[in-house]
Amino acid sequence: MAACGNIPEDQTMTNKDNRTVDTVVKDEHTLSNADAIRVKHLSLNIRVDFDQKKIKGSAHWQIEHLQPADEIIFDTYDLSIDSVMLDDGSMAEFRLDAPQPYLGSALHIPVKPHTRSLTIYYQTGDALALQWLTPEQTFGKKHPFLYTQSESIFARSWIPCQDGPGIRYTYDAIVSVPKGLMALMSATNPQRPAAEGIYHFNMEIPVPAYLMALAVGDIGFKAVDKRSGVYAEPAILDKAHAELEDMGKMIAIAEKLYGPYRWGRYDVLVLPSGFPIGGMENPRLTFATPTILAGDKSLVNLIAHELAHNWSGNLVTNATWDDFWLNEGFTVYFERRITEAMYGKDYVDMLWNLSYQDMEKAVNDLKKDGLEQDTRLKLNLEGRSADEGLTDIAYEKGAHLLLLIEQTCGREKFDAFLRQYFDSHAFQSMTTEKFLTYLDENLLKDHEDWKKAIDIDAWVYGTGIPANCPHTDALRFQRVNGQIAAFENGTKAAALTTTDWSTYEWLQFLRNLPAQMSRAQMKDLDQAFHFTQTQNSEIADVWFLQSLRHNYTEAYPAMKAFLYVTGRQKFLEPLYEEMMNTLEGSKMAMEIYVKARPNYHPLAQKNIDKILKLSK
Ligand code: BES
Ligand code: ZN
Repeated sequence: MAACGNIPEDQTMTNKDNRTVDTVVKDEHTLSNADAIRVKHLSLNIRVDFDQKKIKGSAHWQIEHLQPADEIIFDTYDLSIDSVMLDDGSMAEFRLDAPQPYLGSALHIPVKPHTRSLTIYYQTGDALALQWLTPEQTFGKKHPFLYTQSESIFARSWIPCQDGPGIRYTYDAIVSVPKGLMALMSATNPQRPAAEGIYHFNMEIPVPAYLMALAVGDIGFKAVDKRSGVYAEPAILDKAHAELEDMGKMIAIAEKLYGPYRWGRYDVLVLPSGFPIGGMENPRLTFATPTILAGDKSLVNLIAHELAHNWSGNLVTNATWDDFWLNEGFTVYFERRITEAMYGKDYVDMLWNLSYQDMEKAVNDLKKDGLEQDTRLKLNLEGRSADEGLTDIAYEKGAHLLLLIEQTCGREKFDAFLRQYFDSHAFQSMTTEKFLTYLDENLLKDHEDWKKAIDIDAWVYGTGIPANCPHTDALRFQRVNGQIAAFENGTKAAALTTTDWSTYEWLQFLRNLPAQMSRAQMKDLDQAFHFTQTQNSEIADVWFLQSLRHNYTEAYPAMKAFLYVTGRQKFLEPLYEEMMNTLEGSKMAMEIYVKARPNYHPLAQKNIDKILKLSK
């Protein structure tokens, strides 16, 4: 194999502690040779075929020669390549390798030193990025729907590309879809359906392949302000708009914290309920699950999170998936700063407290599974799926490290540092080592006491939760804990004081209920608070988990209904895992899954197949 996937950057740096920082980074999750010949610009021309559930068309790539090489290598995953034409009009004798686990097939295209562009004619196969919905699987029930999820390495399953987070390019696209349907991308977007179903897109800011996105369906638009708005199926558009009406305020807060929003428009597309994750930070158009539509704006921190990625992630991008915490840990920290500015410190302290609980659980679960090494911030995913790094370590341990730095150096200094960090590395990729050097040189230098107090190497290269990890005590949870104790001591649910509780107080309550509870106690709670019927997905999820643990069968019909329509893996996985703990439960899991599986995204199907031991 050629020196594949190295990100071209040539300097070697040494920081003050003589930590050598080699910035020539190896990305294990691309088979491409972007260090030799690298893509610059993509002109995509595709047709979306709902009957065959295929995307067909061409990817015209402009390329740049960095080192002498006689071929350019692209990533593909189950694509059929029909032909490849070079810019001199000749047909290239391309070669498609046998697929490698997780990575797919390298596409080798011989080129000449003067080749500046080439066109790949292709169609998709079983594309992991794509979910094709039947009309019944949408809110409107009349039209089919398609959406992509390209992070981490699934763009290659719908576009032949050099698929590494360190490889950026600009793009334009022509997408043709059935008449009447709207197409949207991570680019400049239409606000109305095009008469002939042909759409033109432009993304003139370079982005990595994992930020390629497409959605097609019966979609309407409603503006929030001049630069932001909401897209959704007409059936949920008003509800989605009402929930997200504070978006403009959020953007203003984010800009005040860490500098200008650099992407032009910021819109959100609320998808049908099969969407496999909570949100995805596709540039200019965040994709979001409809499970955030709680009716009281209590779950819009997810939008704050995806918005924050426009700095941490989209602007300064993790160089490889081993550096994933640079994307997610920074974004969670940033998201909480937005939430604090919008709703106050006592509110966000609840999120920090829950996040500590999530971090502890992630550490314990990984240790139990023999994966203690994955509790380090800097990962080593060599030979494994990039998605194995997708744990709460990157998110919550990462965010807690930044909180510790803030608390050690002071908020003012840390904010100035972060702002400058985003500014000076805009549209570049970042390794963990490069960040550590930058932090050292721009914030910690000359402050031995801070360095000692933070002990950053223990966080980044050490396992578990470091002893100096901040633990935010949420005042508002003290009341909740008091009510849990009262319930444990026999107070009837209806007599508990729960006035003005937000979603987060309820989550604290439900997560920390007594480990032993009778069905009568569960019933008492349900009669007082109607958890089984809640429309709040976060609350429903924890309640169903407790129902499984305590054999509260009255909740099962609602849980099944939830599992049939909800595709968000964060909710599905714990429920299926819990069911698999007992023989009876695993039978129920299988019964539900047989019906529910067709409603899940291919990526979710893969993961839940594993939980149900249907595959390895
Ligand atoms: N970028 C992630 C989603 C992702 C990460 C998809 C890695 C595939 C691979 C997104 O920003 C995210 O973190 N979503 C969370 C939101 C939550 C933390 C507020 C989710 O989907 O639950
Ligand atoms: Zn994220």
